Amino acid sequence: MQAIYDLVRDVPDFPRPGIMFKDITPLLADANAFAECIRALCDPWRGKGIGAVCGIESRGFIFGAAMAQSLNAGFVPLRKAGKLPPPVVGMDYGLEYGLDRLEIGTEALKPGERVLIVDDVLATGGTLDAGRRLVERLGAEVVGASVAIELRGLDGRARWVSDAPLHALVSY
Ligand code: PRP
Ligand code: MG
Repeated sequence: MQAIYDLVRDVPDFPRPGIMFKDITPLLADANAFAECIRALCDPWRGKGIGAVCGIESRGFIFGAAMAQSLNAGFVPLRKAGKLPPPVVGMDYGLEYGLDRLEIGTEALKPGERVLIVDDVLATGGTLDAGRRLVERLGAEVVGASVAIELRGLDGRARWVSDAPLHALVSY
């Protein structure tokens, strides 16, 4: 996954002082690198009966939607507060730089449906944990999660309390 290391740009002090932002836009703009990234993200999940990929707003949509296509699964958005029409269920969570809320349509997943949760970056792990709890609240089965980038220094993996695997393509 050298392409990711080469094409992800470090931006210090964005969006807040002290935050090292990982800018994935150069990776997305490179057709071959983005395709290779999606293939590699999907490989652990092929043949695992994934029925739905839940992508987390907003950067998780980019990877999640492409992965859903590649895995022949549906795409279900986990959106920030107030973006989805009712009925929804929501989950508040703490972020590296603030507080936020994710919501999912109450009818978006079938009970027992096999779900993969996708985001771009795992930092403190609060976002992915909120996504997992939302999917479980609807009675679906979290088969696992994938992120393109894991920031190991923030120990977000410790907040992934599920037995389901959490895969990261690259870690810093
Ligand atoms: C960023 C990133 C992950 C999350 C990781 O999203 O895209 O979703 O933070 O942080 P955590 O592991 O500490 O929860 P952000 O909320 O900044 O919004 P965006 O995806 O809409 O840019
Ligand atoms: Mg995000």
